[in-house]
Amino acid sequence: VIKGEMLYEGKAKKVFLTDRDDQYIVEFKDDATAFNGEKRGKIADKGHLNNEISTIFFRMLEEKGIPTHFIDRLSEREMLVKKVTIVPLEVVVRNIAAGSLAKRLGLEEGTVLPKTVVEFYYKDDSLGDPLVNPSHIDVLELATAEQVSTMEQYGRKINEIMKDYLKDKNVILVDFKLEFGIDTQGNLILADEISPDTCRFWDAETKEKLDKDRFRRDLGSVEEAYQEILRRLGGTVS
Ligand code: C5P
Repeated sequence: VIKGEMLYEGKAKKVFLTDRDDQYIVEFKDDATAFNGEKRGKIADKGHLNNEISTIFFRMLEEKGIPTHFIDRLSEREMLVKKVTIVPLEVVVRNIAAGSLAKRLGLEEGTVLPKTVVEFYYKDDSLGDPLVNPSHIDVLELATAEQVSTMEQYGRKINEIMKDYLKDKNVILVDFKLEFGIDTQGNLILADEISPDTCRFWDAETKEKLDKDRFRRDLGSVEEAYQEILRRLGGTVS
């Protein structure tokens, strides 16, 4: 496959056209942002680590029957994916109160939620990605009711698969964010990435944070935490 023109540059990734009509190349960057771009920095080797970690999760989810945009890992930082139109929603799935949920509902971080919580946020930087409900999604025509229901069902299923997968790796899945896209056949499939940038991972024994909260909260050892996640998933840290 031949890498073509850059189509889009986001905060953590670049997307390139290829010589194939229905395939893109995603390049993972070391840039890190938080709080809607207010905090900026670089995490050494993050692009490489997130590409490897996402590859492991996408392969595992495909094996369990979840359709994803993943086709192949091409190099340290590059992934070949199916061309999709991204649905402008972030689907957040939560098992334990943390981050914005803990703040919004006044729950102590670490409170185990009696049931899984699924939320939708409107992907719009100028608005700061506001929380939206199905009625807002409908009125803004961000997705159909059927797509909303499918995304919620996939979110819940992915949560069960990932929790189970991470259990014997001594990792607690606190919460995570998913993005979906519509492929050239019109199917709704999982897109974006699954990495310590988009998930909260805690060590099962010590509850140590092994994710981007180390960057957001200036806890140090950010790269080491991402490396530790890759190691626990069976990958090799170079
Ligand atoms: O900040 P908040 O608690 O709402 O984040 C919930 C989950 O979604 C966290 O795992 C966080 O890493 C992820 N997230 C993300 N991208 C965003 C917002 C949240 O990956 N823009």
